[in-house]
Formats: sequence, structure tokens, C-alpha cells
Amino acid sequence: MSQPLIKTSDANLHMMNGNVPLHILKDINLKIDASEVVAIVGPSGSGKTSLLMVLSGLEKASSGNISVAGHDLSGLNEDQLAIFRRRNLGILFQNFHLITSMSALENVALALEIAETGLGVAKIREKAVAALKEVGLGERLNHLPSALSGGEQQRVGLARAMVTRPRLLLADEPTGNLDQDTGAMVIGLMFDLARKQGTAVMLITHDSALAEKADRTLIMDHGRLSEKSPAKANTGVRKPAGAKT
Ligand SMILES: Nc1ncnc2c1ncn2[C@@H]1O[C@H](COP(=O)(O)OP(=O)(O)O)[C@@H](O)[C@H]1O
Ligand SMILES: [Mg+2]
Repeated sequence: MSQPLIKTSDANLHMMNGNVPLHILKDINLKIDASEVVAIVGPSGSGKTSLLMVLSGLEKASSGNISVAGHDLSGLNEDQLAIFRRRNLGILFQNFHLITSMSALENVALALEIAETGLGVAKIREKAVAALKEVGLGERLNHLPSALSGGEQQRVGLARAMVTRPRLLLADEPTGNLDQDTGAMVIGLMFDLARKQGTAVMLITHDSALAEKADRTLIMDHGRLSEKSPAKANTGVRKPAGAKT
């Protein structure tokens, strides 16, 4: 068996909010395999985005181990983490983080340039155009983010995250700004990436239709991650024997 793409052991994240210590992630034990699509659900403020930050090395776990694509993140310095992200990760941020001075096409092309794929300028452009067409933005290539709707910016962010065919895609509310049809389309793209390229996909979502499609759903609650119980999800509350129906 190959190694899981993500493996964490008792990962914790503590932060200070002014003088107030916060325990944001609590003993996270998470495994995600290549080709697997895992949904993370949970209330606002429960720690979902913080988990994404820790898995991408953008926040350092306070304790525990985090291994992603064979890298022990605690052993990497900031420069090495940046290289690790460029080569292995695609990240769709909750608020997209597009570069405001660059067009949709330039935003997507930049991801390919810094991933050090060795591709030439023409090939990079071709792949970036194809990625934007895939998310339905073939007519928006030269638009700046400010000239795009929220849903369009979100899809540029997704094209940028997927264009490098990353080993791990981390997507924070990927359908949050999309109508149902467009949402279904981008879900299809993420599943294609998982099934055809072997990408491990972790998506954070409030969208129950999206969570149901995932291979597994995990629940974040007050910084703790647990498996969603299939029995509970399918049968609802179990009645005691002899209870009135
Ligand atoms: N940089 C930070 N400094 C202090 N507290 C933070 C920081 N980032 C997140 N938090 C806190 O951590 C908790 C989890 O936040 P977050 O991971 O964004 O939740 P979610 O994505 O589930 O809505 C919240 O209580 C939030 O206020
Ligand atoms: Mg969040």
C-alpha cells in the first residue's frame, strides 16, 4: 500500500488572540489517500480553515505530526514550505486570494510558472486557457478579478488550484458562491482530478449535496475532527424498542 497523502498524528494548533490563548485544533488525526475526496463540514468558527492552513504549512502546528505527500512539515523552513506548496498543492482559499493586478489568465499561468514544471511560455498559456475554459471562463481570460463576480473569482481560484494537477487539492468552500449548475460542474472537475490524476481532495463545505458526494465526510466541532457516523446519517434517531411510532 502506498502512504496516505495526508497523515496527521495528534496535531494541535494554539494561538493567542491578544492576551487570550486559543486552542483552535485539538488532537487532529487525519488520513487521506491519493484519489480520495474527503469533505469537512462543521459550524462556522469550528476550525475548518485553520486545518487547511496547518495542512498547507501556512500555519505551524503547535504540537503533533503532519505529513503531506511524504514531507514532514515540521522539518521544513519557510522557503522549503513554499517550494513544497508549489510542487504538491493546489489551494482554493475561502476568499480566493487572487492577485488583483493580474488578469484571470495571468493568475492561473502564474501557478504553473512557479510550480517549476519546466513548461515554456506558450505551453503555460495553453494550459492556463484550458483550465479557465474548463471552469466556464473561456470568455473572461483577460478580466481583472475586480471585473469578475464572486462566483467567477472563485472559479479562477479553482482553475489556479487545479491547473498544476497537484497531488493534494485543498478547497475552502469551493461552491460557496456558485449557483447549483455551476457548483455541480466544479464538483465534477474536482472528482475528475481525484479519479484521473490521483489527486487527494480535501474540501471544506456547507453544501450538503457536495458533502454527500464525497467518499467520506468528517465533522469539525470546536477544533475536534470526527468521522460522520453512517448509521446516524442514514437512519436518523433510533427509537427505543417498544416506542410508539
Ligand atoms: N489568526 C488567528 N488568530 C486568532 N484566532 C484565530 C485566527 N484564525 C482563526 N482563529 C480562530 O480560530 C477559530 C477557528 O477559525 P476557522 O478555522 O476560521 O473556522 P472555520 O473555518 O471553521 O469557520 C475561530 O474561533 C477563529 O476566531
Ligand atoms: Mg473557514
